[in-house]
Amino acid sequence: MKVTVFNGSPRGKRSNSHHIVEPLLEGAKEAGAETEEVFLIEKDIKHCLGCFTCWEKTPGKCAIKDDMEELIELFLESDYVGLATPVYGMLMTAVLKNFTDRFLPLSMPHIERSKDGGFYHEGRVRHMPRQFFIANAGFPGEHNFDLLRPYIGMQNMVLEIYRDCGEALQPEEDDDPALFDKIEKFRAALTTAGREMVANGEISKETVEKIHMPLMNDEEYMAQANEYWDEQIEKTD
Ligand SMILES: Cc1cc2nc3c(=O)[nH]c(=O)nc-3n(C[C@H](O)[C@H](O)[C@H](O)COP(=O)(O)O)c2cc1C
Repeated sequence: MKVTVFNGSPRGKRSNSHHIVEPLLEGAKEAGAETEEVFLIEKDIKHCLGCFTCWEKTPGKCAIKDDMEELIELFLESDYVGLATPVYGMLMTAVLKNFTDRFLPLSMPHIERSKDGGFYHEGRVRHMPRQFFIANAGFPGEHNFDLLRPYIGMQNMVLEIYRDCGEALQPEEDDDPALFDKIEKFRAALTTAGREMVANGEISKETVEKIHMPLMNDEEYMAQANEYWDEQIEKTD
């Protein structure tokens, strides 16, 4: 069993996204899976050209020669694939969107009508990995996920994580000990989720609830963030 996460944060290994992915993959590993986190920012991934070569001239194969060929291979050989992103302008990062646009070779060109009345392209490959999604937002509260939720919700994911107060995920030494305690519990819930995904093929409601536990009070988070930025701006004056 292989579990792969494609991390779409431009911060790569320093990202808050990584601090969500890491404990989750630890759990998957404990349950016996081979795991990998790919930092997309480190890869050579050009923009989709919209040329449709992958539908017309070389069905299933992209015209662009870059790292996508090996990344699609890795995607297809995985049993579970996670897509991780910080919220940028209420959506996913351009890094992750660029990556997902390049999956066009895995679709057939014909337009089909779905049961709910919408339209879609049939998949080209028989076996697709099950997917999960991880978003973290710099703001407190839920409204930052209002655009991502319906889009991701259409995709029948095994797990969807919407983590607000994302900048609290890497606390400083002088932060409130209560925050460290909450983050430890949050990480433990992620590890459980990774374990459950591999062992049971699903994540319990209880674990999903724990993953979405509040990390900080909104006002407290806002005050702390604003104080941080005041200090940074003062230093540059
Ligand atoms: C260009 C840009 C746009 C952002 N837009 C939003 C946003 O719409 N909503 C939000 O809650 N946070 C926003 N943020 C903050 C990030 O989501 C937040 O810093 C996050 O924790 C970064 O995660 P990462 O370390 O995994 O990249 C934005 C940050 C940047 C740099």
